[in-house]
Amino acid sequence: MVETIPPFGLGTFRVEAAKTTSAVKSALQLGYRHIDTAQYYNNEAAVGQGVRDSGVPRDDIWVTTKVWWERLSRDVLVASLKDSHAKLDIGTIDLALVHWPSPDGAVQIAETLAAMQEARKLGLIRHYGVSNFTAPLLEEALKAPGGDAIVTNQFEVSPFLANRALVEATQKLGVKVTAYMPLGEGRAHTDPTLREIAQKHGATPAQVTFAWLLSRDIVVLSASTNAEHQKSNWEAQQLELDADDIAKIDALDEGKRNANPPFAPKW
Ligand SMILES: NC(=O)c1ccc[n+]([C@@H]2O[C@H](COP(=O)([O-])OP(=O)(O)OC[C@H]3O[C@@H](n4cnc5c(N)ncnc54)[C@H](OP(=O)(O)O)[C@@H]3O)[C@@H](O)[C@H]2O)c1
Repeated sequence: MVETIPPFGLGTFRVEAAKTTSAVKSALQLGYRHIDTAQYYNNEAAVGQGVRDSGVPRDDIWVTTKVWWERLSRDVLVASLKDSHAKLDIGTIDLALVHWPSPDGAVQIAETLAAMQEARKLGLIRHYGVSNFTAPLLEEALKAPGGDAIVTNQFEVSPFLANRALVEATQKLGVKVTAYMPLGEGRAHTDPTLREIAQKHGATPAQVTFAWLLSRDIVVLSASTNAEHQKSNWEAQQLELDADDIAKIDALDEGKRNANPPFAPKW
């Protein structure tokens, strides 16, 4: 059993079900041990198939899913995780996240966490956590019964949205940060600073971005259906940046948020 979130995971947002199984299978065969999906992505069954097809022992893999924000009341949440559990069909799900906080606190976080604990008792999930929680929302969640078991807060971090205050607040509260959309929706590939640092190390701008996140003790999620990209991204874990590189990447922050749907919290 994997006991803590592996630091480098494969994302599956916007990956259609037909391509998901082979993407998951190839990533696992390359060495990835962490796969991120969500009820909203409509590809949980295909993720489960990729896990089974990979030949990698189930117990060596960490699979995260997320409960959509319209399903956060007690009975609805538990029923939705029964559905995720059946679709994934890989036994107990390693981690379930609250995908977005309940808008305007319509469903109290205490109720949602009680439902997560019930799902854990039923053997549907092993761990739970949150996503897109601001620091005040995370603090509120941690104080609610069962809040001390929250293992991660997953939110957007890229060189263009360093999200420093939320990263620091989350880490100070003892919760692991998981970064999504690390490449700033493709912008990292062409950014001149990242390209220059990449050239210096014989690396790619994507690898430089991932190494920068790992240096901040942040779990990285990167999505790719292309086995060559998957391999190259995975190898970023071997890249070590120096203080000068990190300072240059830190200076790229412009607070540029890509994920900001109408139901997002007040950042
Ligand atoms: N909690 C949330 O609200 C939330 C929101 C958004 C995302 N997420 C999670 O975080 C994951 C990561 O975010 P993301 O999907 O935006 O990931 P990303 O890794 O920043 O971007 C994925 C895109 O980058 C391309 N790509 C990846 N590596 C590449 C490389 N080495 N060279 C060229 N192109 C490359 C992929 O194309 P190819 O397939 O062609 O390689 C794909 O189109 C998601 O998949 C999802 O699991 C969570």
